Amino acid sequence: MMSMFPVPQVPPLESFTMKPIQLFDPASSTYTYVLFDQSSREAVIIDPVDEQIERDLATLREYGLKLVWTVETHVHADHITSAGRLAELAGARTAAPAGCGIGTAGVQLQNGDTLRFGDEVLKAYDTPGHTAGSMSYVWRDHVFTGDALLINGCGRTDFQSGSAEALYRSITQVLFALPDDTTVWPAHDYKGRHSSSIGREKASNARIAGKTEAEFVALMESLDLPRPRRMDEAVPANRSSGLQHDADAVLETRPQPPAGDKKGSYAGDVVPELAWRWLQSGEAVMVDVRTDAEREWVGFVPGALPVAWKQWPGMAMNPDFDEQLRAAAGDKKLVLLCRSGVRSVAAAQRATTLGLEAYNILEGFEGDPDADAHRGAKGGWRYRGMPWRQN
Ligand SMILES: [Fe+2]
Repeated sequence: MMSMFPVPQVPPLESFTMKPIQLFDPASSTYTYVLFDQSSREAVIIDPVDEQIERDLATLREYGLKLVWTVETHVHADHITSAGRLAELAGARTAAPAGCGIGTAGVQLQNGDTLRFGDEVLKAYDTPGHTAGSMSYVWRDHVFTGDALLINGCGRTDFQSGSAEALYRSITQVLFALPDDTTVWPAHDYKGRHSSSIGREKASNARIAGKTEAEFVALMESLDLPRPRRMDEAVPANRSSGLQHDADAVLETRPQPPAGDKKGSYAGDVVPELAWRWLQSGEAVMVDVRTDAEREWVGFVPGALPVAWKQWPGMAMNPDFDEQLRAAAGDKKLVLLCRSGVRSVAAAQRATTLGLEAYNILEGFEGDPDADAHRGAKGGWRYRGMPWRQN
């Protein structure tokens, strides 16, 4: 017999599973979030922490996910991001708010920009105030607020170009404009709470609920907060996606003109880290100009296309080099890799005569030989910990 009463509306099963994976770093009380698309298993990670990279990689493996994006809510002052390393190790592309000055991020996000992962979309919203470049991200009925809106609190506004006025407007006009049942996932919580909702924060957030802008600004100015412990180390490191640099840090992030008498004969020299970033962001095509035998013996770079400069037997010139290189480049710039950075210069010079924009990757795959004629201990792709595989 048919029921006389309306059948209760049961939410689709999907809505129960469409939640972010929330991960916690106890040292900095930071929450990192992994979101993924159910069918393609493509994933995004928000605010990853360097010291938790093994946990995060294990999480990706456990759920069978392919990381396609790393995203920052802002330049953190209390921990270092693992975005750069995740890009190298998991093949993700890096994205960050354009206003944060994270020059190494492949995608510089503007207000309203979206990142796709499988059929899912993450949308960026400018929410300045904690820092001038801070953003929040909306996915379905979830918002990742970084340090703009915290549970029953908000981020500080007293350094990193913070502004209490800007934060007031970001929270009241951008975040509180989201539907009340939107789940709030903050970048930190120091009291063991996991999430909140826009409705709850609007009604009872101790810093901002019911306050005028002037009252909020006065409250923020009266806070006398200690300096974050890792600020001096974390802020500069996070501006380069957490990638560690040596004394040449400034040089590392941009191509250098060819050295000495090679000047002008090709586009320039790049360190392996920059070449890898260009490859990840799709800006450049990487071409490995070693012989087939060398690659097989020594190792491959994932994603690099093989176009030998010379071939065995006898290291004769590859007669099809020009044609193969043109096909590999398409309309992109080239970064060229060889064993130690000699053949790749010759190949880059040749590419330039073909009208291509070609860069040489310094040190090659194995670097120069040491005093015992062993390679791989003095620099090069593998030595610098860049991604590679044996076969
Ligand atoms: Fe922060």
